Amino acid sequence: MLNKKIIIILFVVAVFFILLIVYNYTFTDPFVKSSVESGEEIYEQNCMQCHGENGRGRKMNTATTLNNQEFLTLASDELLKGVISEGRKGTKMPSFHVDYGGNLTGEQIGDVVLYMRSWHKQNVEMETPDKITGDPNLGRKLYKNNCLSCHGKGVGPSVVNKAFLEQVSDEFLWDTIAYGRSDTAMGPSLKGTGGIRELTKKEISAIVRYLRNMED
Ligand code: HEC
Ligand code: HEC
Repeated sequence: MLNKKIIIILFVVAVFFILLIVYNYTFTDPFVKSSVESGEEIYEQNCMQCHGENGRGRKMNTATTLNNQEFLTLASDELLKGVISEGRKGTKMPSFHVDYGGNLTGEQIGDVVLYMRSWHKQNVEMETPDKITGDPNLGRKLYKNNCLSCHGKGVGPSVVNKAFLEQVSDEFLWDTIAYGRSDTAMGPSLKGTGGIRELTKKEISAIVRYLRNMED
């Protein structure tokens, strides 16, 4: 009688442990990573040496801050994938897609972008004019007086670089100039946003037209 009880108890305990092992193996397989985890690993191996831990930037001279909320609001997944895939000619940003001589597949680049989105906590509200038009000659003067001190001296990245200009839209340029990037040397330029430049909307549009002329 007693033996039978012990056998039943042992049996129940054994089944319990087997189920526990099967459950663990199925749901926490150490070899199966989520896309974000895989993206984090790819980031640490391929990007961190220049862009810093968690994308805080400036580990390497002009490597920009990637975890900035203004930047993440303006940069679509398409833009990020494009820059990472093709790199940015004329700068230290390498191309990573195998099709462009890099070491990452499209899927891996998608994972890195998912990981970068985990830094995106909030959309920053930015108002862009419907038409970004203006006099490029005025833009050139304004650029020389307000921007060149950093952007011609390696403090900021080159913004007259052809590859950069091809990758970004007028809106991206206008909003970045107007609202800047928090916690970087790129302060806001639009009147009333607390920066030192206090440019009008028209002046910012003129700068964008000047930058676009540099593309040709
Ligand atoms: C050798 C250094 C280096 C490495 C490695 C590197 N980057 Fe960059 N990256 C740069 C530099 C420098 C820039 C700025 C280019 C410029 O002047 O416009 C940049 C720009 C970028 C931009 C555009 C940012 C902006 O403000 O317009 C993105 C996005 C980016 N890198 C993502 C990545 C990712 C993701 C990786 C890893 C897969 C990576 N980078 C690896 C140096 C690097
Ligand atoms: C005090 C130095 C400084 C001044 C002045 C300055 N910038 Fe910047 N700018 C920077 C830095 C640094 C960055 C990169 C910030 C980062 O890490 O993301 C930047 C980024 C940018 C970007 C984004 C580039 C990219 O690769 O995505 C644009 C566009 C830009 N600046 C335009 C301008 C214009 C136009 C002016 C003048 C109206 C200006 N900046 C004035 C330092 C400056």
